[in-house]
Amino acid sequence: MTQLTPHLRYLPYAQQQTLWLENVSIKQLASQVATPFYCYSKAALLNNIHACKAAFEAENIHIHYAMKANSNLSLLRIVAEQGLGVDIVSIGEMHRALSAGFDAQDIVFSGVGKTTAELTAAVLAGVGQFNLESKEELAVLITIANKHQQLLSALIRVNPEVTVDTHKNITTGAKGNKFGVNFDAVLPMLETAKHSPFIQINGLAMHIGSQIHTTAPYLDAIAKIQTLISELKTQGYPLTELDLGGGFGVQYKDHQMLTSNTGGSGSDSLAFSDFSQAIRSALPHWQGRISIEPGRSLVADIGVMVSEITYIKESQPTSFVVLDAAMNDLMRPALYQATHALIPVKSPFTSRLTEYDVVGPICESTDTFAKSAQLPNDLAAGDLMCFLYTGAYCAVMSNSYNSRPIAAEVLVDDDQAYVIRQAITQENLIAFEQHTALKLI
Ligand code: LLP
Repeated sequence: MTQLTPHLRYLPYAQQQTLWLENVSIKQLASQVATPFYCYSKAALLNNIHACKAAFEAENIHIHYAMKANSNLSLLRIVAEQGLGVDIVSIGEMHRALSAGFDAQDIVFSGVGKTTAELTAAVLAGVGQFNLESKEELAVLITIANKHQQLLSALIRVNPEVTVDTHKNITTGAKGNKFGVNFDAVLPMLETAKHSPFIQINGLAMHIGSQIHTTAPYLDAIAKIQTLISELKTQGYPLTELDLGGGFGVQYKDHQMLTSNTGGSGSDSLAFSDFSQAIRSALPHWQGRISIEPGRSLVADIGVMVSEITYIKESQPTSFVVLDAAMNDLMRPALYQATHALIPVKSPFTSRLTEYDVVGPICESTDTFAKSAQLPNDLAAGDLMCFLYTGAYCAVMSNSYNSRPIAAEVLVDDDQAYVIRQAITQENLIAFEQHTALKLI
């Protein structure tokens, strides 16, 4: 038996060493669900939630899961049952959150472009916190609150303009980013809100980026925000709430790290407790409420994506593994040059390694999952492969480019497996296009 992560290991199945997630054989799953499909471990999700709660709740910091990372209803239900709140960025996400059982009061509504219709729906649903991203949005919210005579709690999201060492496409708190407001825009917004009997601005919010591996940028941003809060207090605006966003990085381990004798548990990435203690130590005298919005760190390592090899295409200078999964199923490599460890479902440990480029079938050169990957030389068409760490920002970002179906999602719970989203088929996709176009005008 080879243990790769606490929930993923090679064990015998049908006289062969194959990959198991918890106590379910991936090979057996693939005989029932069309590839490619996503597959999540419930135990891994619960572990992450428990670790997050232990670290942050010990410091009296509230957790709102950023559901954009993975908004499958079955996973949301588990998160809601564990007592976390949720961070949403659209009314579609609000409907999911409510139907998964989150209390409206435990919903934080973030996002730079909330429409009037979305804000109205959120007000009527009783959403607990609005994170405002502009004075223009504040004006719209005041109109809605006045109309419905409903008392609303809001924070102002500021841009602390800190440098974060992550991929340029996922920074959000750097100078010039579209998110949040400049520090000097906060006071005028507080003055505007003072005249509205229905809007209470209780504090400030920030979210400085994603996949952050050090506490330094949080400490930098918190220091800047504290200075701003002191200034605002002297102007007669004592703020009592801080929402510090998400962004805690995870390590996307490669195959070698997973099969080394650390058994997948050794890691360079910080633990939840490193972040929680750093945050608390940066705010030793803060009496008010603190909350966070983690996404990736709760779900990235709970999932794998299973795909089948369509061809081993021999070529010069490099041969290709052509999969039945493509960039529409897993966009992160094409979008952020991200690498997700790719391992065979049958045990690789008896074969020699060869260099391959791993690609999908889509007609774009960016439909490439890995360049010069070291993979067993006895791989063949029909073999199953698994991409690891695909629980966050993977299924949610899939699309139907090239008229490809949207992959199914499966949840494993010990020795049971459930389809938690059926594949969205070509028939489903086509159903919204009339055979003869609908005449409008
Ligand atoms: N709060 C706000 C306001 C956010 O915009 C985000 C993520 C989060 C919380 C959660 O951040 P996390 O803890 O997951 O880092 N698609 C990209 C990641 C985009 C993140 C967008 N905002 C990726 O695949 O890497």
